Amino acid sequence: MENPRVFITREQIRQKVAELAERIRQDYVNKNPLLIGILKGSFVFLSDLIRLLDMPLEVDFIRMSSYGSGTESSGDVEVIQYLRTAIEGREILVVEDIVDTGLSLSSFLDRLRQEKPASIRLCALLDKPSRRKTPVHIDYPGFTIPDRFVVGYGLDFDEKYRYLPDICYLEEE
Ligand code: PRP
Repeated sequence: MENPRVFITREQIRQKVAELAERIRQDYVNKNPLLIGILKGSFVFLSDLIRLLDMPLEVDFIRMSSYGSGTESSGDVEVIQYLRTAIEGREILVVEDIVDTGLSLSSFLDRLRQEKPASIRLCALLDKPSRRKTPVHIDYPGFTIPDRFVVGYGLDFDEKYRYLPDICYLEEE
């Protein structure tokens, strides 16, 4: 049986999200950006972030499914729900919970670029650089973390634990 142990507390998360929101606010004054959340993992982070941003913006979502071992994306990425918003000429901020191999994100960013937005930036709460298989530039990074499986604050293991308010390691009991 796995046992979640607190790694990043809700208070540390709150402070980090506030710092990120402050930087983003300064960069997007009067720009009405479109924030794109990558489902499902980003929904908790995105909902906290937009309330701290407290400025004119729009939100859309995409959902991808990647066929891998279960804990690792394979790079064979299928978009199963795409944007409803036209993005040509828009200022785009992609919001991710975690960048791991980078494979799912880089394939999506390539597709976005073809639609000629005015700009694309990336905000990711968690970054596991030791696992990267393709380079991804994170404009607004949150926490850099080691190669351990984390859950909570939107992140799951087998669809469990997304509701945890802290980010936790999974330990074997
Ligand atoms: C996770 C996470 C990122 C992606 C990162 O999503 O939310 O979207 O994997 O992995 P990568 O950098 O190796 O591509 P997951 O596929 O687990 O789906 P979920 O967000 O619905 O839980």
